[in-house]
Amino acid sequence: MYGKKNKLCTKLSSAFLRKWWFAIAFALCLIILGILVTCGFMSVVRLVIDHQIALRNGTQTFGWWAKPPVEPMIKVYVYNVTNADDFLNNGTKAVLDELGPYVYAETWERENIVENDNGTITFSMKKTFVFREDLSNGLEDDVVIVPNIPMLSATSQSKNAARFLRLAMASIMDILKIKPFVEVSVGQLLWGYEDPLLKLAKDVVPKEQKLPYEEFGLMYGKNGTSKDRVTIFSGTQDITKYGLIDRFNGKTHLPHWLTEECNRLNGSDGSIFPPHMTTDTKLHVYDKDLCRLLPLVFEKEIITKNGVKGYRFTPPENVFDDVESNMENSCFCPAGPPSCAPKGLFNVSLCQYDSPIMLSFPHFYLADDTFRTAVEGISPPEKEKHQFYLDVQPDMGTTLSARVGVQINLAVSQVVDIKQVANFPDIVFPIMWFSEGIDGLPDEVTNLMNLAANIPPKARIGLMIGLFVLGGLLLMIAVFCLIRSSHRQSTLHLEGSNYLATAQVDLAKKKAKENKQ
Ligand SMILES: *[C@@H]1O[C@H](CO)[C@@H](O)[C@H](O)[C@H]1NC(C)=O
Ligand SMILES: *[C@@H]1O[C@H](CO)[C@@H](O)[C@H](O)[C@H]1NC(C)=O
Ligand SMILES: *[C@@H]1O[C@H](CO)[C@@H](O)[C@H](O)[C@H]1NC(C)=O
Ligand SMILES: *[C@@H]1O[C@H](CO)[C@@H](O)[C@H](O)[C@H]1NC(C)=O
Ligand SMILES: *[C@@H]1O[C@H](CO)[C@@H](O)[C@H](O)[C@H]1NC(C)=O
Ligand SMILES: *[C@@H]1O[C@H](CO)[C@@H](O)[C@H](O)[C@H]1NC(C)=O
Ligand SMILES: *[C@@H]1O[C@H](CO)[C@@H](O)[C@H](O)[C@H]1NC(C)=O
Repeated sequence: MYGKKNKLCTKLSSAFLRKWWFAIAFALCLIILGILVTCGFMSVVRLVIDHQIALRNGTQTFGWWAKPPVEPMIKVYVYNVTNADDFLNNGTKAVLDELGPYVYAETWERENIVENDNGTITFSMKKTFVFREDLSNGLEDDVVIVPNIPMLSATSQSKNAARFLRLAMASIMDILKIKPFVEVSVGQLLWGYEDPLLKLAKDVVPKEQKLPYEEFGLMYGKNGTSKDRVTIFSGTQDITKYGLIDRFNGKTHLPHWLTEECNRLNGSDGSIFPPHMTTDTKLHVYDKDLCRLLPLVFEKEIITKNGVKGYRFTPPENVFDDVESNMENSCFCPAGPPSCAPKGLFNVSLCQYDSPIMLSFPHFYLADDTFRTAVEGISPPEKEKHQFYLDVQPDMGTTLSARVGVQINLAVSQVVDIKQVANFPDIVFPIMWFSEGIDGLPDEVTNLMNLAANIPPKARIGLMIGLFVLGGLLLMIAVFCLIRSSHRQSTLHLEGSNYLATAQVDLAKKKAKENKQ
């Protein structure tokens, strides 16, 4: 009988012990989990973000990407030439009057979307522009006097042609009454007007060299679905290429420049970027009209008006520097020195049917000041007004707000054989500048971003504290009890011969239990 009691007792105490061993194991698990959370939680969050932002048909991100819930605006400023005759006949400085802004609200949509099975997605961009008279300072019907870009392009290009060609050109222009300055409305300048020279070219020039249009406009053909088919990486297979261009009209590289590096196309279109960027990340944006990848570097941290933290990226200040100060730009000069673009200008003539178009930042920001002072009426550039920037949410790579400012200039070469332009000097003539941008994303998007950006770090700290405190506390209690009980056990063991004592204790316990019930 005593033997039975003894077995029961050891069982009891070992079950009791096992419970505390179990508690210790559990506490250790909690602590290990705490360590795992400390180290691995953010990578799990990254995985979740990567999965969420990848462009898959049917997801919310896909919907936002296909039909961006933003209200982009483009503000156009036109340089009206107020002394055209004086400039041509008397050689005075051109006096420009900056008109505008003429504001258009844009709607963006990606159309004819095809998901390829190699983790890419192909689409055409559709942009619709609607004039916003209420936000504009002027009307689309405002008449302005601007350089005749088709004519001055033709004359500048003929500079190295045979003399008789130039003379022939002069008489054709005489017959067609083409003048170096045109009087057009702002709407026509942007969206197109019939140009006699382009019309003529369409009829005479051989088919292969033909310009695609007979109308001329600085934003001609941009209202509506673009003919360009763009293939980008959707992030479903490789998140490090998320949003980057794979092919543009089937091509992986531009044909114009001297090195493969400068012909690269694998930048973003500016709306989404590979996620998890740091302040050291260099972004690249491709825009067809810019004719190259534009690098962007971190400038500062910003907070948008809906309270989202973001990084501001801007082009490095030497992005359009001349070849002498930025050797990297020498690949953009296929003609070789001395016809490389000067500081602050970018020669896009190869992308513009050989028209001598030079791009710069508005008001010649970051360019040599001599260009601005070569004409009258352009105020000195101001970083706040004329800077180019993108604000990006770094964890998700989504653009929060942006301002893309570009000025279009015409690099005119003097050609004395053509009497209409004989007095038109060598000059980089500013035509207009625009600033296209989005002010912010709608609340439903930014709220989600704030959640994604703010909740995980807080949850991590909460979990860490919870797990460590709980685990630590449990461990302490378990160890304490274990020590106490093992102490008691060893006492029992010492008194082990006294079976009666143990039995009596047990009996008393039993009785107490029975009494309770
Ligand atoms: C542009 O300048 C021309 C010549 O000075 C002037 O007649 C015209 O009214 C100006 N246009 C606007 C919209 O101010
Ligand atoms: C050119 O200068 C002459 C004399 O200086 C002046 O009479 C004439 O009005 C000027 N021409 C124009 C278009 O202003
Ligand atoms: C997405 O899925 C819907 C319905 O499943 C389909 O109608 C649509 O064409 C798909 N879109 C693309 C781009 O595949
Ligand atoms: C993915 O597939 C598309 C369509 O088949 C193709 O144009 C593109 O080059 C492919 N891209 C890659 C990276 O393989
Ligand atoms: C652009 O096209 C839409 C219709 O497709 C039209 O309503 C709008 O007026 C056009 N905008 C301009 C500036 O021509
Ligand atoms: C873009 O392509 C070039 C090769 O043409 C490659 O070296 C570079 O890493 C690519 N950039 C990105 C961001 O994928
Ligand atoms: C612009 O580039 C073209 C093509 O490389 C070149 O022929 C032309 O001279 C350049 N223009 C200027 C003003 O440098």
